[in-house]
Amino acid sequence: MTTETIDAYLQVDNLVKYFGNDKAVDDISFGIPEGAFLTLLGPSGCGKTTTLMSVAGLHSIDGGRIKVGDTVFTSPKEGLFLPPEKRDIGMVFQSYAIWPHMTVAENVAYPLEIRKMQQSEIDDRVSEVLKLVGLTDETDKLATNLSGGQQQRASLARAIVSNPRLLLFDEPLSNLDLKLREQMRVELKRIQNEVGITAIYVTHDQAEALVMSDEIIVMSKGKIEQRGGPLEIYSRPVNEYVSNFIGVANLLKGKVIEVNEPGQGVFELAQGGKKVKMPCLLSPGISAGEDAVLSVRPENVHAVREKDDSTSLEGEVTFAIFLGSHVDCRVQWGDFEWKVIAHPRTKLKAGEKVYLSFDPEHTLAVQP
Ligand SMILES: Nc1ncnc2c1ncn2[C@@H]1O[C@H](COP(=O)(O)OP(=O)(O)OP(=O)(O)O)[C@@H](O)[C@H]1O
Ligand SMILES: [Mg+2]
Repeated sequence: MTTETIDAYLQVDNLVKYFGNDKAVDDISFGIPEGAFLTLLGPSGCGKTTTLMSVAGLHSIDGGRIKVGDTVFTSPKEGLFLPPEKRDIGMVFQSYAIWPHMTVAENVAYPLEIRKMQQSEIDDRVSEVLKLVGLTDETDKLATNLSGGQQQRASLARAIVSNPRLLLFDEPLSNLDLKLREQMRVELKRIQNEVGITAIYVTHDQAEALVMSDEIIVMSKGKIEQRGGPLEIYSRPVNEYVSNFIGVANLLKGKVIEVNEPGQGVFELAQGGKKVKMPCLLSPGISAGEDAVLSVRPENVHAVREKDDSTSLEGEVTFAIFLGSHVDCRVQWGDFEWKVIAHPRTKLKAGEKVYLSFDPEHTLAVQP
C-alpha cells in the first residue's frame, strides 16, 4: 500500500529492510509535510531506529523508495543510493556524540568548517544557533564540562547549524533524568518549531510522543499500527495494541452485534452468563457479527452509587485511592476488574457496591 501524503516533503514508500532473514522493517509507507514533527513510537525492536537509519542512508535498504523534496535518497529498484553525507540531514542521538576535546563553539562550528564557509560567517551563525538553544554562556567551555541536558543542546545546535533539510532524533532524551527530560521535551519542540525544520523523532516513551508530535506513527514488529495526531491516537485507537500501548485502557473481548450509522454500533459483552449491550464507536473496518475488543479509558468510566437508566453494570469497589484531583479506583465485575478514575466528590470506598455507566462517544469497539 502506498500512502502518498498531499504535499509530502519527505515520502517513504514501501520501505523494507532485512537483517539476515529477519525483517526489521516490513513494507511501511508514510509522508511528512514540510516543517512537521513526526514521531515513530513503539516498543524496543519494532524497527524505529532502522527506519531512521534508512532515511539517513546509514545502511542500504532491501525495498522501497525514500524521497525528500525532489531528491530521491534511495530506491534499490532504480539503482539509486545517495550517500549519507550528500543527504544534508542533521541528527541527534541518545549518546551526545559531541567531541570532548573541543569547546562548545568548536563543536557547533565544525559542520560549517568542513563546508569551507568564511570564518566571520561561521562565527555569526554559531552564536545565533547557540542563542537559540540557550548555550550562550557556555560557548567556550569544553564539551565534557557540560551537563547532560547542555550536551544535548550542543548536539542539537551542531545538527541544525548548517540548515539541513531534515532533522532526525533517536531517543535524544533517554539519558536524562525525568525532570530534565520533561523540560527538554518542550525545549526541543520549541526550537524545531522556531527553525521550521522537518523532523522525525524516535522514542518508546508515549508521554514524550504525545507532548511533542504533530503526528505519531505507532509501530510494532516492523509495521505501522496507526498514524494520527496525539489526541486521535489517544482517544481513537484503532486496535487493542494501540489502546494498550498508549495510556491506560479497560480492554474486554466481545462482539459487535449492530452497526447503525457508519462508525457507530452496539457492542455485546459476555461475562459469567450475563450479557450487556453497549452503544459504541466502531474502529474503521469493523462490521456486524465480528469479534472485537471494547476499549474504554479509565477517565471515561463513570461510577455512581445509585442505579438509573444510564447505568449498565453493577460492580464492587475493590480499592479506591484518593490522589487529590481524582480517585483511582478498581471495580470488580465478574472476573474483570475495571480501572476507573472517579471525581473526589463521589467519595467511593473499597467494599461498596457501584454502578458503571459509559458515554458512547468514548466507548470504542476496536480491532483485536
Ligand atoms: N545491525 C543490525 N544487525 C542485525 N539486526 C539488527 C541490526 N539493527 C537492528 N536489528 C534488528 O532489527 C530489529 C529492529 O531494530 P531497531 O533497532 O530498528 O529497533 P528499535 O525500534 O529502534 O528498538 P529500540 O527501542 O530498542 O532502540 C530488531 O529485531 C533488531 O534486533
Ligand atoms: Mg532504536
